[in-house]
Amino acid sequence: MLKTIIDTDIRKAIDLLNANEVVAIPTETVYGLAANALSEEAVVKIFEAKQRPFFNPLIVHVSSIDEIDLYAEMDEISRKLASCFMPGPLTLLLPKKELVPGIVTAGSTKVAIRVPQHHIAKSLLQQLDFPIAAPSANPFGYVSPVTAKHVYDGLNGKIHYILDGGNSNVGVESTIIEVENEQVILHRVGGLAIEEIENVIGIKLIRKKTEKNPTTSGQLKSHYATTTDLIQGNIQELLQQHSSKKIAIISFKKQYPNIADQDQYILSKEGSLQIAAQNLFHVMRILDEKDYNLILTEIFPNEGLGVAINDRLYRAQSSQKS
Ligand code: TXA
Ligand code: MG
Repeated sequence: MLKTIIDTDIRKAIDLLNANEVVAIPTETVYGLAANALSEEAVVKIFEAKQRPFFNPLIVHVSSIDEIDLYAEMDEISRKLASCFMPGPLTLLLPKKELVPGIVTAGSTKVAIRVPQHHIAKSLLQQLDFPIAAPSANPFGYVSPVTAKHVYDGLNGKIHYILDGGNSNVGVESTIIEVENEQVILHRVGGLAIEEIENVIGIKLIRKKTEKNPTTSGQLKSHYATTTDLIQGNIQELLQQHSSKKIAIISFKKQYPNIADQDQYILSKEGSLQIAAQNLFHVMRILDEKDYNLILTEIFPNEGLGVAINDRLYRAQSSQKS
């Protein structure tokens, strides 16, 4: 077992990354488990620490849009999206250049790239001579971490260092987009709302339905899952169906009068989907640590970041675990 340290020393993170070690780093979406994207030796360690299957490719993080050109080919629409939304919670799937090792893309000719917005991630990338490959810093299949402590809870003993950058303020993973033959394909809903993307490109996104044969793990049926069973739907109906169980509720802004206060978690009293997204993974983790038999969650408004919230909750459901 390694001794896992949580601290705020960027220099220490840089030294470890330069030595081909993995380091958990903050980003504005979720914490990432980072390693030198150009070193196979380093990237293998990400898969090992996370227990992630090798067929599942990694996102490459760079410090600027200009740097993307070193590692991938950009079409016009992708370039437009990059100029509007990077740095930020957008990942572009682009034809990769030679420099990117096959292990990062799981053999695919396309590489997923993003420019993080978090000031610590930015500063780190600016001081490194290479891009960083980083999946979310959680054991494969579990809820993504949005604090250094969450990373520690999942990966203690598996990594040397967690760079603490506070709470991830987007709170859900990046939106993944691919442009192919003038069509714009949505691979994963996330922290950048669909409406914002469609406003910029002027055409509708195409949603890829590939659950049987997922090209991204965010499309695997059960993912982002709590250990405690979770069901999404109409709370009052679900309460009746499961009346014998010890139940916790996740709601958007509503307080349920027939439920004890300590058993219900309102994600945003003021009704902001952005704040609800920020709080989502925190609350899923808090409830998972308590002794509930079942977590019930509302279906959120299917707009803005509500789409990503619904997606993560849908996939966290126990019925999806088979
Ligand atoms: O917000 C985020 O995107 C966070 C932070 C750390 O950047 N990262 C993240 O990584 O969520 P991960 O590995 O947990 O999810 C990335 C998704 C996976 O579903 C992976 O299969 C997909 O992106 N992906 C990565 N490279 C790909 C590629 N070359 N082709 C298709 N899908 C790819
Ligand atoms: Mg992940």
